[in-house]
Amino acid sequence: GKVAVMFGGNSAERDVSLRSGAAVLKALTDAGVDAFAFDPQQQALTELVETGAERVFIVLHGRGGEDGTMQGALQLQGLPYTGSGVLGSALAMDKIRCKWLFQAQQLPTAPFAVVHSNDTDFAGVLASLGGKVMVKPANEGSSIGMSAASTAIELQQAVTAALQYDSEILVERWITGREFTVAMLNDQVLPIVEMRTPRAFYDYEAKYQANSTEYLCPAPLDAEVTAAMQQTAFSAFKAVGASGWGRVDIMLDNSGQHYLLEVNTVPGMTEKSLVPMAAKAAGLSFQQLVLAILAQTQG
Ligand code: DAL
Ligand code: MG
Repeated sequence: GKVAVMFGGNSAERDVSLRSGAAVLKALTDAGVDAFAFDPQQQALTELVETGAERVFIVLHGRGGEDGTMQGALQLQGLPYTGSGVLGSALAMDKIRCKWLFQAQQLPTAPFAVVHSNDTDFAGVLASLGGKVMVKPANEGSSIGMSAASTAIELQQAVTAALQYDSEILVERWITGREFTVAMLNDQVLPIVEMRTPRAFYDYEAKYQANSTEYLCPAPLDAEVTAAMQQTAFSAFKAVGASGWGRVDIMLDNSGQHYLLEVNTVPGMTEKSLVPMAAKAAGLSFQQLVLAILAQTQG
């Protein structure tokens, strides 16, 4: 039946979603699927029901699309949708609760603190985390609102910047090393991608704008390290209740220890995004990947 491809939305990642969704819609249409665009920022959910959509391909990033709220609304309408359900979506969106779950499952993740607007002991937080940290709004994506800090003043500024996006802020010990991502598709772990940037970290610009970012897939890692990172990623995906498809981001420090950053339940799907890159290394074209995700709606 008719497929609504949901993209756009009103989160801070709207622009990324517009690109992801356009690529997904084109792949579906090219494959002969009866699909159409639906932007919840412009149309209400009651209009979706009137379109006669029978299932939904969710390509919304961030709040209102990736965080379980849309998943819950669709579920109440009886409309099957791609990817994680309500619980997995909501937990994966929240980086702090993800870290608590990782810790409870003894999965490796960097030491961290949770900071709110009324916290003032920046020097103490910094000292407790080794002197250099990464600051993140708890519920954002694409590195929006993130910055590094290595003095109390910088930490205060970084927290202030992150507070524009969220009332809960994650402050993580800085990991010096390499950054990777592990894509999941229908309980299969795909080849690891390594992202290399000359910038201070793999930020919004490195992700979407800079052409200085290098991608290596399969990542040049020993077989043992590859297997260990894939196992960690799989366990993390399960720990937060995610399902269907997604992407787990991981750092590897210079001593060979890896650390979970987070789980993404609706990762970027532009033709040059990371999940499509990993799928390609596994022998799946972008269109085959999109069709494999769509098949999740035929429970
Ligand atoms: N949050 C962005 C879309 C990603 O994880 O790819
Ligand atoms: Mg993310």
